[in-house]
Amino acid sequence: METLIKENIKTYTTDGKVRHKSNDEDINEKIGKILGSKWNEYRKKWDAVNNFEIQTDFPMFLHLDLHQVCNYSCPHCNISHLEELKKQFDGKISEKMDFEKYKRIIDEGSEHGCPSVEPQGTNEPLLIKDFEKYLKYAHEKNFIDIMINTNASALTEKRSKQLLDSGITRLRFSLDAATPETYKKVRVGSIPLEKVHKNIFKFLELKEKGGYKLPVTGVSMCVIRGNEHEQEMFEKFWIDKVDMVSLQAFTPPNYAPENKVLFQSFFPESFKGNRKSETEKKELQEFKCVQPFQRVVIRNDNITACCNTYSNQLSIGHLKDGIYNAWNSDFAKQIREMHLCGRYYENATCKRCVETTDFE
Ligand SMILES: C[S@@+](CC[C@H](N)C(=O)[O-])C[C@H]1O[C@@H](n2cnc3c(N)ncnc32)[C@H](O)[C@@H]1O
Ligand code: SF4
Ligand code: SF4
Repeated sequence: METLIKENIKTYTTDGKVRHKSNDEDINEKIGKILGSKWNEYRKKWDAVNNFEIQTDFPMFLHLDLHQVCNYSCPHCNISHLEELKKQFDGKISEKMDFEKYKRIIDEGSEHGCPSVEPQGTNEPLLIKDFEKYLKYAHEKNFIDIMINTNASALTEKRSKQLLDSGITRLRFSLDAATPETYKKVRVGSIPLEKVHKNIFKFLELKEKGGYKLPVTGVSMCVIRGNEHEQEMFEKFWIDKVDMVSLQAFTPPNYAPENKVLFQSFFPESFKGNRKSETEKKELQEFKCVQPFQRVVIRNDNITACCNTYSNQLSIGHLKDGIYNAWNSDFAKQIREMHLCGRYYENATCKRCVETTDFE
């Protein structure tokens, strides 16, 4: 049965890289009705940060890579190019972050009233057997916006129940395709799409039957050359089944010269790259990146300014010295100041990122 796309679909983005679409009501208003004033105050402050109206003395968002392991090998993803990945991290990929280290991060965030955490980065979080323990700890320490993405291949009924009881706020299933044929191509090494759908539908059923209001659920597609023709089909299929459909811009994973051509080939046809119009070029010149004002990303004990796959080049500190010190380091302040003035091009990493990402 075909699902009709309603005319009042809401679209929003905070960084220009991910466009979120939801039916009926804004997803944050929806969560606000569930969590009340604490949530609404957090979102007000978050919006002020995103509009460059205020700066905080501690990040509002902790983004943690708990390990660098996945059971899929999606060609557009950094983790599928292990040798390249290792080069970016001194020859090592990270094993699972132990719980004691994780607790120290969450405790520091909690002391500073940090509201949001994503304990997952470029990896598959459900491969961590006791992952729900990590989520629960953040919830107990008063984080109110706890979010994860999963490919849902390991989403058994038992894991679904554990996730529902973990206190997470948002759960997103990354699919990157609307049809089994495309899924197989863009998600190399995957289990069949039908099986993944089954896992997700079971989760949704358990959520509904159990009367859980949270987590809000979403599906996502990273738009690349191989799936761009399925964007509309994807949106139509999911918009009435989950709370949010997200379309994510592709960021080339790294820039080793021998890989440049390969990654260029993943850009969707619609990506204009160097063929941008004069107006778009002007918009680019005025671009300010909000991530260094919102978050820190922690990978391999390194604290960085954004979630870009090569953001280790924007390292602002080491975990042993704490998040507060990294956030308030001279380099972190310098990156923020640079973006505030719209001079992203002064940093080679940001220049490369901004000029090669399909920003809105
Ligand atoms: C990195 S994965 C991590 C979580 C989990 N393994 C999954 O696939 O849901 C989250 C999302 O990032 C997308 N992604 C992977 N490589 C990307 C890239 N180079 N640029 C932008 N998004 C990417 C994936 O397609 C997926 O939708
Ligand atoms: S499933 Fe997620 S982490 Fe794994 S290769 Fe694909 S996009 Fe990357
Ligand atoms: S590399 Fe620079 S422009 Fe790109 S996401 Fe990171 S901070 Fe923003």
